Amino acid sequence: MKPKIKITRTPNSKIKDIDFDTIPLGTTFTDHMFICEYANGTWNNPRIEPLAMIPTHPAAMALHYGQAIFEGMKATTGQHNMPLLFRPEENAKRFNHSAARMGMPLVPEELFVEAVKQIVTIEHHWIPPQEGSALYLRPFMYADEPFIGMRAATNYKFIVICSPAGPFFTKKIRLYAETEYIRAADGGTGEAKAAGNYAAAILPTEKAKAKGFDQVLWLDADEHKYIQEVGTMNIFFKVEGKFITPATSGSILKGITRDSVITLLKDKGFEVEERAITIDEVITYFKEGILEEAFGTGTAVAIAMIEAIGYKDQLITLSDENPVSRDVKKSLDEIKSQKREDPFGWIVPVTIKEIVG
Ligand SMILES: Cc1ncc(COP(=O)(O)O)c(C=O)c1O
Repeated sequence: MKPKIKITRTPNSKIKDIDFDTIPLGTTFTDHMFICEYANGTWNNPRIEPLAMIPTHPAAMALHYGQAIFEGMKATTGQHNMPLLFRPEENAKRFNHSAARMGMPLVPEELFVEAVKQIVTIEHHWIPPQEGSALYLRPFMYADEPFIGMRAATNYKFIVICSPAGPFFTKKIRLYAETEYIRAADGGTGEAKAAGNYAAAILPTEKAKAKGFDQVLWLDADEHKYIQEVGTMNIFFKVEGKFITPATSGSILKGITRDSVITLLKDKGFEVEERAITIDEVITYFKEGILEEAFGTGTAVAIAMIEAIGYKDQLITLSDENPVSRDVKKSLDEIKSQKREDPFGWIVPVTIKEIVG
């Protein structure tokens, strides 16, 4: 049965003040949020209400012990102006995978998907009209029980907020292969979309930026040699016509774009190897002239071409061409905007008239 979500609309929409041509990244939020609370072993009172501050007790456990997870997804506009979601049930599954790892309660998948669908229905006017733009959706959960002590919290909030986003990261990116800091070790939380993973990445990312790079390319924790992923993306290399991407062995986030790109590449007849790959191997391919393309994949960017990778005192520079990567990006973008058939069943239309409340 569909979860019943109570809806209270704001009488004062801010949308008339928004210039969709100049939306500052990540600082504009829509009028409403979805919110519900977990207490006594169950999720209660799911509702959509005007976006507002949330009173937080200073002892809220998320602030001290870090039980906080999130997801990132996008709503786009398809043909006939219908809002579309991309594989939302995969985000629901990954959200629960993260929750389980962090000792947090699961959110029923139907509740997660319905919350996202209904907030998109209410906020569909906020999907920017420009090509490549989207309404970014941020479902998240955190422990809000006031308690000092190390154990799983008993109370949580699950919230979805929305932020209109122009097409970003369209420029090619420069990556810095990090040999001092690590993102994730086997047995750690690397496969979860846990807030703490990102906190630990902030300093290394700032240092990489100071050296003239955009994001960190993470290497494994033990030997600093196996490639894991990029700041907020998975990574692919094309070598002699074949694609290689690090296998998600427990310390890499299982990207939904990564999975979709593997499917698209195979559908286009390319071989894709999911395996361990070292930075030295990539440097060798570069020196031999057989490193043909490299790109990152993630919800925010879809596919971002890589311009260069810095590693110790070496710099790998990639060609501007990227014919296959561009073709895959085009296919993915066109599926997401219904300009191309969706043979994989990835698109979930949000029917506006389904709305209740
Ligand atoms: C650390 C990390 N890796 C990879 C990804 C790509 O995942 P997805 O394609 O599901 O957005 C993200 C973004 O969510 C991320 O934060």
